[in-house]
Amino acid sequence: MRSAKVLVATVAVALAGCAAAPMGSSSAAGASAPPRLGQPISEAQLAKWNIDVRTPDGLGLPPGKGSVADGKKVYDAKCLACHGEAAKGGPVFGAMVGGIGSFKTNTRVLTPGSMYPYAGVLFDYVRRAMPMNAPQSLTDDESYAVSAYILHLNGLMPANGVGDAKTFTALVMPNRDGFISDTRPDVKAERCMSNCPPISSTRGKK
Ligand code: HEC
Repeated sequence: MRSAKVLVATVAVALAGCAAAPMGSSSAAGASAPPRLGQPISEAQLAKWNIDVRTPDGLGLPPGKGSVADGKKVYDAKCLACHGEAAKGGPVFGAMVGGIGSFKTNTRVLTPGSMYPYAGVLFDYVRRAMPMNAPQSLTDDESYAVSAYILHLNGLMPANGVGDAKTFTALVMPNRDGFISDTRPDVKAERCMSNCPPISSTRGKK
């Protein structure tokens, strides 16, 4: 509701602007002021957004590490309220443990342990989106630690384990081969930067 009002106000201002500068009137100020269509972004600013992790080789997993023990502390402080004791399920989300092997049955239980094909998926998800009330507030070490703890609860890391780029890439998740690659040619978004075919020749082909 609030945003709708803001939108209406913005539109009104834009219309008022049009009325004040009718078509064809090119005031000196209007002609010299460049259109403000955004501004260049630096590589350093861009880096903050470039946080995806490429599985299976783990490219993009940052430096740093976190132990299962430290992960329990992070979990109990920042995750337990929604996900419950030892990730068994809480008021906001169901269990994040167990279910391993269930993907081959009719009653699948979706947990990071049972579904994710790579440990890096868990790290990426946690770093990017959790805790849900404060996404991207964890340090990389905390993200490694709490991911290691969840993997431990799923029986995939020892109690004295430490999560980092190397261990997460090396870890073979139970459902690694449970996905099939989509081989349809039209699902590949290949970027064309020069001599590109017209869009009409690449879209909507039946
Ligand atoms: C305010 C509530 C809340 C808090 C706090 C929270 N989560 Fe979540 N979490 C959610 C919800 C809701 C979802 C489901 C999101 C969806 O499906 O889009 C979720 C999903 C997840 C998933 C994906 C589970 C799956 O089965 O694929 C993981 C992993 C996860 N959270 C980890 C964490 C960790 C680690 C923390 C603490 C650092 C945390 N969450 C804190 C609400 C929360």
